[in-house]
Amino acid sequence: VDNRISHIASSIRVIPDFPKPGIMFHDITTLLLDTKAFKDTIDLFVERYRDQKINVVAGVEARGFIFGPPIALAIGAKFVPMRKPKKLPGEVISEEYSLEYGTDKMEMHVGAVQPGERAIIIDDLIATGGTLNAAIRLLERVGVEVVECACVIELAELKGRDKLGDNPVFVLISST
Ligand code: PRP
Ligand code: MG
Repeated sequence: VDNRISHIASSIRVIPDFPKPGIMFHDITTLLLDTKAFKDTIDLFVERYRDQKINVVAGVEARGFIFGPPIALAIGAKFVPMRKPKKLPGEVISEEYSLEYGTDKMEMHVGAVQPGERAIIIDDLIATGGTLNAAIRLLERVGVEVVECACVIELAELKGRDKLGDNPVFVLISST
């Protein structure tokens, strides 16, 4: 195992019962305070994707906006924000996804991506997989090839991968 991974794992703070009882919140803000952990996180994704002819790095609001742009810059891809509803000013397409209670929407600008482009989707964490599933649907609707989803952390017990069909997910840390 790459010894950078264990340092990254130790830089993530776990806060019990946030935002509500029973939830173990994996807080990546402490990773961002650790300059080595943050740089190594970005480098590990860049090493994986730099030679894969990726055109698009799609980042999921909000925490995917932290990790996505430095990866996009390093691999020479454009950064496309996937936003919460009514934030993007231009024409959008949207996909619904389910939360613990109710549903939310994710939006992307029309024209940000082109059919045939190759994308990776970046977020901090996969839990139930609903968020990444919506991001995949948005990109596939417009003919983009989703090469892989990439997250810093996976909450493995929630089996979020099962919601993503054949779409692969790469994670640095799998937490139980
Ligand atoms: C968190 C996390 C992922 C998502 C994962 O985001 O940053 O985006 O949940 O959950 P899922 O796999 O069950 O869909 P959240 O919606 O809390 O918002 P934020 O990133 O804006 O803080
Ligand atoms: Mg999020």
